[in-house]
Amino acid sequence: MKHPIVLGLQYGDEGKGKITDSLAKQSEWVIRFNGGSNAGHTLWVNGKKLVTHSVPSGVLYSHVKNYIGAGCVLDPVSLKKELAEISQSGSALKGERLRIDSRAHLTLPIHIVLDAARESGSKSIGTTRKGIGPTYTTKMDRCGIRVGDLFESGIQDKVRFLCDTYNAMIRAQDLSESSFEDNWKVVELAQELLREHVASDPTPFYDIAKTHKCVLEGAQGVLLDLDHGTYPYVTSSNTLPSAAAAGTPFPLSRLGAVIGVAKVYMTRVGSGPFETELDNEDGERIRAKGGEFGATTGRPRRVGWLNIDELRLAVRLSDCTHIVLTKADILTGEPVVKALNKGSLKEFPCWKSIYKDDSRTALSAELESYLSYVETEAGAKIVGVGTGSDRADFFWRGETPDFWA
Ligand code: IMP
Ligand code: MG
Repeated sequence: MKHPIVLGLQYGDEGKGKITDSLAKQSEWVIRFNGGSNAGHTLWVNGKKLVTHSVPSGVLYSHVKNYIGAGCVLDPVSLKKELAEISQSGSALKGERLRIDSRAHLTLPIHIVLDAARESGSKSIGTTRKGIGPTYTTKMDRCGIRVGDLFESGIQDKVRFLCDTYNAMIRAQDLSESSFEDNWKVVELAQELLREHVASDPTPFYDIAKTHKCVLEGAQGVLLDLDHGTYPYVTSSNTLPSAAAAGTPFPLSRLGAVIGVAKVYMTRVGSGPFETELDNEDGERIRAKGGEFGATTGRPRRVGWLNIDELRLAVRLSDCTHIVLTKADILTGEPVVKALNKGSLKEFPCWKSIYKDDSRTALSAELESYLSYVETEAGAKIVGVGTGSDRADFFWRGETPDFWA
């Protein structure tokens, strides 16, 4: 058996949560391989909103187990809050239901201080300020704190060394330090919170993946990939399918369909190039209709038309086999739809309704013809369309593919 990977083909916030949720329902494991509390996955269930950050999107199904891979970074303070919210929504994530790789790195207060310091300078990236970049930095610098370290005797020394090393840099910039005591408090919280969830087995999925359905859930999007995105305006992890193998103990030979999620228009949070940006009334209207405000930071997202040139690039970089296009309902009734292709902005008649008729068995002719154009130009088939915010608002275009073939 091979297992699907869900990832964003744009700058994050493509609506991956919905398709992951629908695949999660049929799976036994949902696995995260990159990112941390910078991610914000909004799930709507029966009109109730749940935003997850670090935990995988399988949380809403009691039969699903969730795994946070070594390629992720984890902020214990943020996780504690998240687990409390999930438990209020009636789905407690006890022990076995949430496994956290002992090799994942912890985001501590010093990382958040470093992120803020870097962002207050003149060359800011517009990060989420969740300490993501600095956590990956100390990981590469080999003085980061891993989840497994929490339960080893050398933990005090490790935290002290991290603080000493990086506070020296903070001092050099005349900024206020992050004390050992502040960091230690979070370490103690993490020791209590994470003990029941730690996974140390180096190869659990070698056998699991032979017989049990899994979904690998990406965070952010291909165009924010550290290496292949719009550097330096990127996140600090890899977001391509290859990261699913690098950031988890998941066998490479078991990775299968790549499901790329894109919006019918585009959004971006933070700085960086955005060729089709609508810095005008049209952009404001779409932002309001689409609720385009960051799930993690509340920042208004920058809004623009679909860039098919970038979509084609993302399809090729990710070797995407299926596209899911989300938020078609947000553009319903717009005077026109535009998309950038081969360097020029093209206009299309907009759909007045999502569906052809009340039977809801076919999409309207205008939407169909737009989808056909986009998939031909982007180079991968559009298999599904997001038609509204609720979990049920989804249309499979043609037969639902078997993603575990
Ligand atoms: P960082 O990941 O917090 O370091 O932020 C780096 C860039 O990635 C900024 O432009 C952020 O707005 C963007 N970013 C990070 N995570 C997400 C996400 O989950 N959705 C959308 N943009 C994100
Ligand atoms: Mg998001």
